[in-house]
Amino acid sequence: MTELTEIWDLSDTEVFTRYGDVFVPRRHEQMTAVCDLLSGIPIPHVLDLCCGEGRLSEEYLRRNPEGRVTLLDGSREMLDRAVERLAPFGGRHAVREADIEDHAWRQGATYGAVVTSLAVHHLDGAGKRTLYKDIHAMLAPGGAFVMADLVEPTGAAARALAGDHWEQAVREGSLEQFGGDEAAIAFEKSEWNYYRLPGPDPLDKPSSVAEHLDWLREAGFVEVDVVWMYAGHTVFTARRKAN
Ligand SMILES: C[S@@+](CC[C@H](N)C(=O)[O-])C[C@H]1O[C@@H](n2cnc3c(N)ncnc32)[C@H](O)[C@@H]1O
Repeated sequence: MTELTEIWDLSDTEVFTRYGDVFVPRRHEQMTAVCDLLSGIPIPHVLDLCCGEGRLSEEYLRRNPEGRVTLLDGSREMLDRAVERLAPFGGRHAVREADIEDHAWRQGATYGAVVTSLAVHHLDGAGKRTLYKDIHAMLAPGGAFVMADLVEPTGAAARALAGDHWEQAVREGSLEQFGGDEAAIAFEKSEWNYYRLPGPDPLDKPSSVAEHLDWLREAGFVEVDVVWMYAGHTVFTARRKAN
């Protein structure tokens, strides 16, 4: 079993790399839903926004032999890991190191889809609204925006349930994948469960499902929907209208 002192010493990147498959509830199901929603995109080029280790990109490239991805992340360490992961796909990727809040990366490229997982909640409401408008402008007609992320519950009962489900999923995943409570302890000690935090968090600023849906429609998207939700983790889909 990993000692608590070792867990404290890990950076966020190391914690997520080691325990991500447990910390992200039903991660495989989420990634499958995201990639299922990319079928029929008008250009086989996908921007993976805040790609981390490139897990979504890997799944997209595996399914689409003609596909290409652009990996964007603010962490060089994560980008290096993603590039390593995508090595078997023969250079069908480009890399962009950038902050999601910056605007330079939002100019000058057109994609068939933009995907993102567990990152947009770092932006405040105004940042999300602007991001959705910019992503809409970056998509080819008929292009898709698919986002998996934490959402903000609108009441105490929903918050408690999201927290409970997340904790339970992590306990089960820890047992399955680590044969014990190592990942569950890391989850608790790193205070990863947003729904258990006592008050607002300076880094994590999830918005409600209703806000996301409103802001996506306001940005011009059509077919705006929630297709999957568990433990506060939600998959949204939206399309730029085809010409
Ligand atoms: C929780 S991880 C999720 C990674 C990946 N999307 C996944 O689902 O496996 C969050 C990722 O967002 C990146 N990130 C966090 N804040 C960022 C920012 N302000 N700009 C760019 N990337 C950021 C981190 O480096 C990390 O790779």
